[in-house]
Amino acid sequence: MKANPSAVFVFPSTEEFVRNPDVTFPFRQESNFHYLSGFEEPESFLVLAPSKSKPGSHRMVLFVRKRDVEKEMWEGERYGVEGALRVFGADEACLIEEFDKKFPELLQGAEKVYFRLGLDRETDERVLRGLEAARKALGRSGRGLLPIHDPGEVLGEMRLFKSAEEVELLRKACRITALAHKTAMKEVRPGMNEYEIEALIDYTFRRNGCQRVGYGSIVAGGKNATCLHYRANNEPLRDGELLLVDAGGEFDYYTSDITRTFPVGDSFTAPQASLYDLCLRSQKEAIAITKPGTTLVAIHRKVCEVLTEGLLSLGLLAGKRDELIQAGGHRRFYPHNTSHWLGMDVHDVGFYQNNGEPRMLEPGMVFTIEPGLYVQPGDAAAPERFRNIGIRIEDDILVTANGCENLTQDAPKERTEIEALKA
Ligand code: GLY
Ligand code: MN
Ligand code: MN
Repeated sequence: MKANPSAVFVFPSTEEFVRNPDVTFPFRQESNFHYLSGFEEPESFLVLAPSKSKPGSHRMVLFVRKRDVEKEMWEGERYGVEGALRVFGADEACLIEEFDKKFPELLQGAEKVYFRLGLDRETDERVLRGLEAARKALGRSGRGLLPIHDPGEVLGEMRLFKSAEEVELLRKACRITALAHKTAMKEVRPGMNEYEIEALIDYTFRRNGCQRVGYGSIVAGGKNATCLHYRANNEPLRDGELLLVDAGGEFDYYTSDITRTFPVGDSFTAPQASLYDLCLRSQKEAIAITKPGTTLVAIHRKVCEVLTEGLLSLGLLAGKRDELIQAGGHRRFYPHNTSHWLGMDVHDVGFYQNNGEPRMLEPGMVFTIEPGLYVQPGDAAAPERFRNIGIRIEDDILVTANGCENLTQDAPKERTEIEALKA
């Protein structure tokens, strides 16, 4: 806003999506809208427009649904115009019905508009109609429509650096999520179904205050864990197999993202243990080099090096270490990346590169470190004892001034710890 004193910023709320005839999906506010306003109702707009009274600064205008005794009796309370001013600190609040008339007025004198096109067609048309009305209001000026910029990049950079308050919310989400994983480790027994563990995890999230999951949980027993985005979660769990759980609770719009892999029965088999130990070693070595100045690319490279060396000594790869790393030989068993930003969105916003170079980590950034090893059922070239095994170990890492802090260390990951917990 400081860099663009004559820009108008427009953020629409998420719409309510129909699930089937008169039932909607549970509502979750659009992340940027929530980040800037905290306002959780649909059918709303947040507009930041140049202030008339204080040149160089912006005023916050919220367009909201009107209070409605009848509707509120059925659907719950609304804040209305008065609540938008009093609770959310808006400088001005208007009814959403007034948007089409007021928005062109807010655009008067503006030089550009920040608005993300393409999310919702009706909203796009509404905003474009406003721009057209503002252009017409200038009379015969020869001016075109105001240029539209995507606010996502600016907000991405803001959201990438977590404030102390945001870190607290992430900590809370991480603590609850770690507890859920620990509970799953303790409770799982041969003969249970994957969905029972999913239910237990959901229950642990909700009873500890998470409003929802940050993404659909993956609860994958045995060979299902070799399918990277397995979501069916409906097969029986068998003794002698591993269970991979990738699940994160969302607390006040901030999500955790943890993966743990542990035995359905009492202990790891020998081939499971050798792959598990390798995966864990790569993860620990990656965490050990995490500090300001390093990059996610360097972290991924470290994981790939450790995994390649281990796969060579287990006989799953053959060839020369450096050549394999260069050619990406590990991708047969580790086809995904190691990290992504984490925050309000599980795959959070923010640039991964600066001027085409991997960006350096800085204090306040939060991201995952999640190496995995997956030996596909159909990989006839792999020794049979390793086939059908899928393992991933994922923690959430905060970059600090001198190094990093593992926000999810409460979730056990040492084999001895897991086996002791199960016993
Ligand atoms: N759960 C999604 C991910 O780990 O990226
Ligand atoms: Mn992840
Ligand atoms: Mn995950």
